[in-house]
Amino acid sequence: MKYIDIANKKLDEMRNRDDILILAIESSCDETAVAVMRGRELLSNVIASQIDIHKRFGGVVPEIASRNHTMAIDNVTKQALEEANVTLEEVDCIAVTYGAGLLGALLVGVSYAKALAYATQKPLIAVNHIKGHISANYIAKPDLQPPYLCLIASGGHTTIAYVKSLVDVEIKGTTQDDACGEAFDKVARVLGLPYPGGPQIEQLAKEGVANIPLPTPYKDKDTYDFSYSGIKTAVINYAHKCEQKGEELRRADLACSFQEKVTDIMVDNTLRCAVDMKVDTVVIAGGVGANGVLREKMEMRAKEKGIKVYYPPLKLCTDNGAMIASQAYNMIKTGAKSSDIDLDANANVRVFD
Ligand code: KG4
Ligand code: ZN
Repeated sequence: MKYIDIANKKLDEMRNRDDILILAIESSCDETAVAVMRGRELLSNVIASQIDIHKRFGGVVPEIASRNHTMAIDNVTKQALEEANVTLEEVDCIAVTYGAGLLGALLVGVSYAKALAYATQKPLIAVNHIKGHISANYIAKPDLQPPYLCLIASGGHTTIAYVKSLVDVEIKGTTQDDACGEAFDKVARVLGLPYPGGPQIEQLAKEGVANIPLPTPYKDKDTYDFSYSGIKTAVINYAHKCEQKGEELRRADLACSFQEKVTDIMVDNTLRCAVDMKVDTVVIAGGVGANGVLREKMEMRAKEKGIKVYYPPLKLCTDNGAMIASQAYNMIKTGAKSSDIDLDANANVRVFD
């Protein structure tokens, strides 16, 4: 029997179980991450971050990311199995992020997962990274049920998605230029803060006041879309003007003004969409979802409208293997087939693919 037939037969046999043991691999950017999950229960979640390596370059260098994934992936996998107290033989299924992300980085995880799946003749589930971010919420809140609205705010995406089922989403609004995490990172650079900029800006903003005016994109337009390039340019121009005039740059105020503006827009768009669609649950996902101001603002304003808000713990917001395991579980439960060993990475997968 061919690998794919064996894999699909095994998948069908396990589909109705609630204790499927999934080993999930994530290597789309600068985190080599592997998690083990039994059903909805997270057994281990090991993350080897390369942040310190990329920091000195002010952002992720793709080639360096790939090389470091290659060096880390085997040990991270072994550690994840060890912490979960399970053996590779006991694992039912291998899951892996196949996109979106950096192609070379993705390829490391995909090749490793394929080798593992083939060698052990276990099913291979190819997971969309962005849907993985959404699914981090099922770990934190196992009784969460679609439909709900999800704000996905990460380094690569800013999207409002209507989550129709465990696997299907519909886009309601998305960024027309930069992703919000990207904007956080670029503004941080202007402020002389290291990569990744989001947590740094959040920290610095605590010492500032939002008193520097920044533009509101699509102010009078009836849209749930986002745009960050105008805000980013306004921050850069403000910093340059200060420099030209020989004035001291009020870095904390600028960080605070930027953070207030972008979180206001994210919250306004998401809640406006929720009200228009008569959806009573909003969920936050992605790295920028770790932002405390965004979380608080969303909760406070949603409460006024009778809308419930959920978000994952910080460790499950930024890239991790647990969210990939969680989405793989959803996929298995809704009839997904195993990938074959010709599975390829795809840097440009969209959330609805
Ligand atoms: O989801 P993620 O880990 O990777 C992608 O899939 O892109 O998101 C990384 C992004 C970075 O741009 C980082 O600056 C941002 O999330 N981020 C934050 C915070 N923590 C991480 N942005 C704002 N506030 C934070 N606390
Ligand atoms: Zn991500």
